[in-house]
Amino acid sequence: MSPIEALLSRVSVPRVVEPKVSAEELNILLRAGLRACDHGRLKPYRFILLEGEAREQLGEAMSEYLHGDLVDVSEEAIEAAKNKALRAPTLLSVIFCPNDNEKIPESEQLVTAGCAAQLIVTAAHMLGIGAMWRTGNVTYSGEVSRILGLDDSEQVVAMIYLGRPAANLPQPPEVDPESFLTRL
Ligand SMILES: Cc1cc2nc3c(=O)[nH]c(=O)nc-3n(C[C@H](O)[C@H](O)[C@H](O)COP(=O)(O)O)c2cc1C
Repeated sequence: MSPIEALLSRVSVPRVVEPKVSAEELNILLRAGLRACDHGRLKPYRFILLEGEAREQLGEAMSEYLHGDLVDVSEEAIEAAKNKALRAPTLLSVIFCPNDNEKIPESEQLVTAGCAAQLIVTAAHMLGIGAMWRTGNVTYSGEVSRILGLDDSEQVVAMIYLGRPAANLPQPPEVDPESFLTRL
């Protein structure tokens, strides 16, 4: 498959299984993220790897958030929240770390962090690794920030779930690129 075919066939993979991402694969994913377009080369992001028990701690934090935030939450929902972080053998979190910069607004820096996440997901697909970018209110919660060790200025941009695809990959839906284009 050519690089452009790989790029155009990327799909999210919600169901992934062991084995976890290898050290060599991780190195490539990080290097891909670090190639994000980046005004001023500020690198306004960092990555956090969660594997093994760290995922269980994340699951605990996610269920604590649910406990604290919602009244009448069922035991099943709490258990489900705990297990959510175990849906993939490797979780790679992309964290936005804004720089105080006169010329480069925070909004641009946030885009850069998002680009880093997209490049990681794309590189994973090119390596045959299943990847899915997930977030949700729980991801932005104080409980999850604490378990990740974020400081007050930092913010989760992506929780990328990585592993081996559990099934054959579907084709991405057909879209007409021209319908997204205005010619002036
Ligand atoms: C910022 C961001 C947050 C996302 N959060 C979630 C999420 O919490 N749950 C989810 O199912 N998909 C989430 N997605 C979307 C999926 O990662 C995926 O892109 C979407 O299901 C479309 O599938 P595709 O990538 O195969 O086109 C998020 C995407 C982005 C860019």
